[in-house]
Amino acid sequence: MSQAVENALPIIPSIKDPSPKKKIDGPYLSVTQSLGLEGEVGLAGAKNATLVIMTSLILTAGRSVLRNVPASDDVFHMIQLLQGLGAQAVFNTETNVLEVDTTDLSGYSVAPELMKMMRASVLVMGPLLARFGKAEIGFPGGDVIGARPIDYHIKNFQKMGVDVHEQPDLLVARVRRLQCRNLLLEYPSVGATENLIMLATLTGGTTKIINAALEPEVFDLIAILKQMGARIDTEMPATIVITGVEKLHPVDYTIMYDRMEAGALLTAAAMTGGYVHIPQAPAHLMGMFLMKLQEMGHTVLIGKDGVGVKVKATKNPRAVSIKTGPYPAFPTDLQASMMALLTTAQGVSVIKETVFENRFMHGREMTKMGAQIDVQHDVATIRGVEELYGTHVIASDIRASCALVLAGMKAIGETTISGVYHWKRGYEHLEEKLRSLGASITLYE
Ligand code: EPU
Repeated sequence: MSQAVENALPIIPSIKDPSPKKKIDGPYLSVTQSLGLEGEVGLAGAKNATLVIMTSLILTAGRSVLRNVPASDDVFHMIQLLQGLGAQAVFNTETNVLEVDTTDLSGYSVAPELMKMMRASVLVMGPLLARFGKAEIGFPGGDVIGARPIDYHIKNFQKMGVDVHEQPDLLVARVRRLQCRNLLLEYPSVGATENLIMLATLTGGTTKIINAALEPEVFDLIAILKQMGARIDTEMPATIVITGVEKLHPVDYTIMYDRMEAGALLTAAAMTGGYVHIPQAPAHLMGMFLMKLQEMGHTVLIGKDGVGVKVKATKNPRAVSIKTGPYPAFPTDLQASMMALLTTAQGVSVIKETVFENRFMHGREMTKMGAQIDVQHDVATIRGVEELYGTHVIASDIRASCALVLAGMKAIGETTISGVYHWKRGYEHLEEKLRSLGASITLYE
């Protein structure tokens, strides 16, 4: 951080006396200061891998079993969506096993209310086109973190021989004649890569996706598709090569562990001056995040073969700068948590968000807690403060809800967080895991 940038930062007075608590309408999380989180904790399956893997079952006819499925609300929404298309589903939330039978699946349109519940609903499009040659869907909803268009999906479906008509509230897509192509993505979009891979698995010939997203969740999708019988390879640089097959078959598959939940729990250790061990954490997929924790001065110990992480917090965390980007860069989904952590680090940190254009809303909420954060377009500058103070804040998206919980564990007094449905969409009872490590957190529904 140059002296010039540091001097340009506005000095915002710390809030030592937050406004008196108002009555909170609707469900909320209550967090009181919880220093020194300590212990060992398990992980849930990865939400973003699960959602796309669930849509990939549309490509098969028969009964598949998915294991390690997180019982979070987005998963329940996706179950509803598949049931709406004619699939049978049984989800055991004790064992995290989801059975889906797609034998009688015959629908190809998704109700706009379901589409609006989450962005991942757009991932039905590729599989529906592959299986039925048609798809009718509303425009996807999800977190308010930017414009989030789906032009890369549509443009490339069109190149593969799909006619797409946009009506005011509806996208109507029909296969004219599927053709394999070399598809060049302008940006390595996770969703577009996944949608195109799924359509290409049942498209004759060899499709190449160049400048593809290389997120671990994309590779979890590739792994299940290969188990179904798909032929998929990768080539340098960032190219996914799919050779179409006639048919895919149902599978029994275990979903990868959630690197974002792991990141949240390790940040909780760092934030509270604690010591947390996550034996299942996929450290080999969390390199940039773990490197930044180390740069701050925290001790990071990685298990054998890159699985399992222990984080022991330093008492004097240093400011660091991060820039989010496609994997293996710093994940945008851990940006909010990292911002919470940096609010009390010594010095000035800079976060550049390059993936979504409007993903700093949590910063404004943290300033209500006494954090000093200045946001200019896609750059947030954070001047570390000694203390945060509990007050009422609002979560605007899944990852913001987590970041505000983390800030609440550090803050003096009580922090109440509304917008809890985001928390429930993204995490399976994360509040219980935090409690098992010593956090004082309650979800009021
Ligand atoms: N984009 C376009 N046009 C497109 C597609 C994407 O302009 O057709 C832009 C987006 O607006 C965004 C950027 O490209 O600015 C990246 O979007 P991408 O398509 O990569 O993201 P996504 O598939 O919509 C998934 C995750 C997100 C995660 C991003 C980036 C799921 C269900 N969602 O979204 O997860 O942040 O990749 O890694 O897999 C979350 O879990 O909280 C979450 C938002």
